Amino acid sequence: KSIVLVGAPMDCGKARKGCLMGPDAYRTAGIARALTDLGHHVTDAGDVTPDANDIPDRDGLINLGETIGWTTALMRAAESAMATGLPIFMGGDHALSLGTVPGVAAHAAKSGQPQFVLWLDAHSDFNTLETTASGNLHGTPLAYATGQRGFEGFPDLPVTVPASQTCIIGLRSVDLPERALMEQTDVRGYDMRAMDEHGVAALLVPFLDDVAKAGGALHVSLDVDFIDPTHAPAVGTTVPGGATVREAHLVMELLCDSGLMTSLDLVELNPMLDERGRTAHLMVDLAASALGRRIFDRPTPRMM
Ligand code: ARG
Ligand code: MN
Ligand code: MN
Ligand code: MN
Repeated sequence: KSIVLVGAPMDCGKARKGCLMGPDAYRTAGIARALTDLGHHVTDAGDVTPDANDIPDRDGLINLGETIGWTTALMRAAESAMATGLPIFMGGDHALSLGTVPGVAAHAAKSGQPQFVLWLDAHSDFNTLETTASGNLHGTPLAYATGQRGFEGFPDLPVTVPASQTCIIGLRSVDLPERALMEQTDVRGYDMRAMDEHGVAALLVPFLDDVAKAGGALHVSLDVDFIDPTHAPAVGTTVPGGATVREAHLVMELLCDSGLMTSLDLVELNPMLDERGRTAHLMVDLAASALGRRIFDRPTPRMM
């Protein structure tokens, strides 16, 4: 595959700083080498810079103007990166998906391909400018990308992703108003209980089957906090009880087997909070699993 690394050192989606170092942490952890070792052709497009904008900041919303400036810049960067290969957007906080998801969806729409989104996250990120209690705009991208109202000041999206074509896995922290909004849509949301009861493969495979049946493009948005903080401490919004390293790799391996993933966000890595780079390395290893790293090239033998 042709893979293009796009740095998105966006750090304005919440008050705590540090995600701006994410792209360089992935580079330092060897993301390019890990993927070239799998036989891919990898280019690093460098870092996106935000557009200037003069939207005044609004009460209770953190860095509104700067976030909109990043959103418009990332929409263009994402749409054009899609024409050159499979982009990996190296964040940066999750507000970067305000730009990457609409950008990749705009590319898909040009060839009439339906866009699907897999959101791997402890949070649903389904707040709007109206419902957010924290004012942290990294809690809003999935609502924006699926075309919910309540994003005054953000560009109107010519292409939105139907909520029915999105699937969230890993939920264990959802605000009441975002839950209410989510419940008005047909977004598929699976919490940790669903993962415990059925196993993550049983949640993911039916969604992948739908993507395949529709001939869809699949954007995957991987938030560090999807993984349990004991394995992935480098994130500002840790929630205990997350996916294990093994569950996270299984998701990536199933994505790889499906051949469906067309773009990937790696978000919320805060290198200031890491321990000797272990979270950055884990995220690189997960990206590698999604793109072909495996022990055996043959399928797991049948056991019974
Ligand atoms: N729901 C909370 C909020 O809106 C948490 C969002 C966390 N989002 C994230 N991308 N880590 O503030
Ligand atoms: Mn294409
Ligand atoms: Mn998130
Ligand atoms: Mn999260």
